[in-house]
Amino acid sequence: MLRIEWGQTARGTVRMSGAKNAALPVLASALFARRSTLHNIPHIGDVMMLLRIFESYGVTVRFEGNTVELDTSDMRPESDDPGLVKKIRASILLIPALLHRFGRVDLPYPGGCNLGKRPIDEHVNGLRMLGYGFSESDGLLSFSGDWFRHDVELSTFFSVTATENLLAASAFRPGTTKIRLAAIEPHVMDVVGFLRACGARIETSYDHSFEVSGISELPEHVEYTVIHDYLESGFFILLGALCAEEFIDIEHARIGDLGSFLIKASEAGVCYELRSNDTIRVHNSRSNLRAISLQTNVFPGFPTDIQSPFTVMLTQAEGISRVHEILFEGRFNMLMELEAMKGHSAILNPHEALIFGPTKLRGTTVTSWDLRSGASMILAGLIAEGETRITNVEYIERGYEDILGKLRSLGIQIDRIES
Ligand code: EPU
Repeated sequence: MLRIEWGQTARGTVRMSGAKNAALPVLASALFARRSTLHNIPHIGDVMMLLRIFESYGVTVRFEGNTVELDTSDMRPESDDPGLVKKIRASILLIPALLHRFGRVDLPYPGGCNLGKRPIDEHVNGLRMLGYGFSESDGLLSFSGDWFRHDVELSTFFSVTATENLLAASAFRPGTTKIRLAAIEPHVMDVVGFLRACGARIETSYDHSFEVSGISELPEHVEYTVIHDYLESGFFILLGALCAEEFIDIEHARIGDLGSFLIKASEAGVCYELRSNDTIRVHNSRSNLRAISLQTNVFPGFPTDIQSPFTVMLTQAEGISRVHEILFEGRFNMLMELEAMKGHSAILNPHEALIFGPTKLRGTTVTSWDLRSGASMILAGLIAEGETRITNVEYIERGYEDILGKLRSLGIQIDRIES
């Protein structure tokens, strides 16, 4: 578990890592190539697990620094450790490459963060539209068959991983695929960048659609650099607003991807300056914070993945904030932990909550319900009076590279202790 003492302040500069949500689908799409070299891959639990899963399918993996090299020459259609697949949601991203190479995939229903309902109907519908057969029994998903050769039009209803999966499945299928109502999150666009580097032609439109002209030859070798993590930079912006001694600088912040987040942060009183080289300077804004109304949405709306830390900040804002989480009802589990810390909130229904502020948080033992709520507990611990202990740290380590090292580089000491 983590132990945090309150009253610490942050100063200096922190540099963002490669994006988890881009690294996972790009790695999975790289299984179409015989060999690949991928840069800026973060050392995080989800990536390490995906690479173990790759190895269980016979893929040769080298991970040095932040570069992953994959060789799929000896890849097999079945994993020699299917239990691994259940551990992360991202294993669903293996389906297109396995189907393409072997004409069949049997995959246990993928696991992942505890965020409530996580349906996969858009993946299944899309793959069926591309020609594959599907059946499910005893929690095992089975896809089989060959792709259609004619042009196809399908929709992914803004699902991030379904859009990524169907982009990958379309990129190596002869014929044109029109993907409507597509997600366009920065990590989805990074998958588009990767598939273009493989030779696929993908056109994007203003109306959330992609037109993919597939290539029939699988790439021999592809090299690509994954984008930095705008969700991680959102977390550090909030940390700066709450705990900076005066200000902190965040490098590789992906400022261009943070539009709606920065508008809401400004509205809540967060003071920041945009500097050159994609750096953002965030000033301590604690005494200036005011209540706002916030609704998560698909990109370019406010990201669900920064809602939890933002909600922690709103406990320090003057007035009553309203948070509307349209995607994942499980995200409000975190409010029970804030309540244990003497935060004051009211859950109106599974998707809406009121946060009353400012409240003086008090340290206690809290848990991580998921990756983002776990990281948010770090923010809460830094502003709560006394000592805070956070359990289920593995969730945080699934998605934040060397978070303790980054915090230490800002002068914040958090210890990892035995439970
Ligand atoms: N949905 C469906 N049917 C589907 C798929 C999704 O109804 O077939 C619904 C979901 O129930 C949800 C909404 O669509 O309400 C969005 O789900 P989506 O499929 O977009 O989520 P995801 O692809 O499973 C990715 C990220 C999540 C992030 C969401 C939303 C990755 C590996 N995961 O999940 O990241 O919260 O998109 O942006 O990219 C995180 O990083 O902490 C995390 C959970």
